[in-house]
Amino acid sequence: MSQSALRLGVNVDHVATLRNARGGERPDPVRAALVAIEAGADGITAHLREDRRHIRDTDMARLKAEISKPLNFEMAATQDMQRIALATMPHAVCLVPERRMELTTEGGLDVVGQRETLAPFIARFNDAGIRTSLFIAADPAQIEMAAALKAPVIELHTGAWCDAVVEGDRTRADREWQRIVAGAKLAADVGLEVHAGHGLDYATAEIIAALPQIKELNIGYFMMGEALFVGLPETVRQMRAAMQRGRAACESRA
Ligand code: PXP
Repeated sequence: MSQSALRLGVNVDHVATLRNARGGERPDPVRAALVAIEAGADGITAHLREDRRHIRDTDMARLKAEISKPLNFEMAATQDMQRIALATMPHAVCLVPERRMELTTEGGLDVVGQRETLAPFIARFNDAGIRTSLFIAADPAQIEMAAALKAPVIELHTGAWCDAVVEGDRTRADREWQRIVAGAKLAADVGLEVHAGHGLDYATAEIIAALPQIKELNIGYFMMGEALFVGLPETVRQMRAAMQRGRAACESRA
């Protein structure tokens, strides 16, 4: 693997969404995780929401027990979730804001506003040897606070940029993209490992893969939708190919 290898984390939440529509056991998100890994995923992400609308506690325990690649446990910064995460001992946790009525994680975590509560929270995970990633907008104040709180990783929220790209709003897309470019650079400069995710598809994953500071992309919804048509292994392979095209473009410029 080259120095600048870019990891693909596959989010399996929406396999659980489909399963829960009928309340039974199929399709199984753990099976999806195993298939994704077999096809080339570098890790698996799952979000145990407080309302348990998709991933269940037993899914998280099974993912930890059954997958051979790192588990990224997405969660709200609550005491209850921290207790479950410490019992699960995933490779990493990703702290996200959660609102009950939202369709998906809508914005980034307000690390500046919540610094008093987040500091001991992150310290507890650092002590336990679990890497904490903070899911934030590419905002300089949030990035600098993430570093000050000793989080080893941030995940830049790409949702606003991806929405603008899909809607064909060039002005907004360019503005959001410049924020991501500057944010990734600042984060790497202050010593953070930089991940990105939310709303990515093949085209946007290829573009963002060209940013050398980004070490991991976490992608779910688009991939599960594509998997309905071409299968999950083929979707993982196509996503990896898109990411490699983007990374190759970045390396040829270096
Ligand atoms: N990263 C984080 C922190 C998320 O909350 C989500 C959505 O669950 C994703 C990545 C994946 O986003 P999407 O499902 O839109 O690819």
